[in-house]
Amino acid sequence: MKDFRLMKQRSEKITALTAYDYPTARLLDESDIDIILVGDSLGMVVLGYQDTTRVTLEEMLHHTRAVARGVKHALLVADMPIHSYDTPEQAVETAKKLVDVGAQAVKLEGGASHVAQIEEITRASIPFMAHIGMLPQSVREEGGYRIKGRTQSEAEALISDARAVEKAGAFSVVLEIVLADIAKQITKAIGIPTIGIGSGEHCDGQILVTHDLIGLFPWFTPKFVSPEARVAEEIRRAARAFVERTRSGGAGR
Ligand code: KIV
Repeated sequence: MKDFRLMKQRSEKITALTAYDYPTARLLDESDIDIILVGDSLGMVVLGYQDTTRVTLEEMLHHTRAVARGVKHALLVADMPIHSYDTPEQAVETAKKLVDVGAQAVKLEGGASHVAQIEEITRASIPFMAHIGMLPQSVREEGGYRIKGRTQSEAEALISDARAVEKAGAFSVVLEIVLADIAKQITKAIGIPTIGIGSGEHCDGQILVTHDLIGLFPWFTPKFVSPEARVAEEIRRAARAFVERTRSGGAGR
């Protein structure tokens, strides 16, 4: 495992992307990415659910197994799905199952409220990545994907969440859709790296859902993403070409 704290101290930016299958994982790994996350965004961009609240541990294990076969260099982190870490005992059990199928670290959503779970996981020597800010597993209670840190009390809660997860043993923390200025304050306040998603440029690293980056989920792209490719259009183009070629009597090669 790379020394991510040292990267922070040296101001070397940390790069992270999601993967849910073998070829994508292998391609990202060959692209020198630092961290590959089997995110529970799997639910939306691969399984066609409306949000991440239906993703099961079985699904996460299945996809983590596939991704693990494609990763040689990057750190492989797997998300713990909703209701797989309701108690510290359940959290460590879930974390061990993900490690057994190839994850090198795990992530769950929550800050100070989940210190007991995080401590139990790190006590079992499983590297842990935290996730605070907008928590997609709580999207239904929250009523949507809302930017975090706009009010003084929200900003203070985020800073104490970040301090709490660092103290509990996290090696890094994802900041999802946090106001850029608050993300900057959090980044200065803690010794572990912050990995931002929609949280501005001052984080120690950045993470994106790969489907958003490469334009593979064209029906929805978060506002903060600038896609680098239009893979969905290429797939449509190739499929139409095949359909036309076949219908006009071609061999379909
Ligand atoms: O599920 C996911 O993909 C994530 C991130 C993008 C941070 O949690």
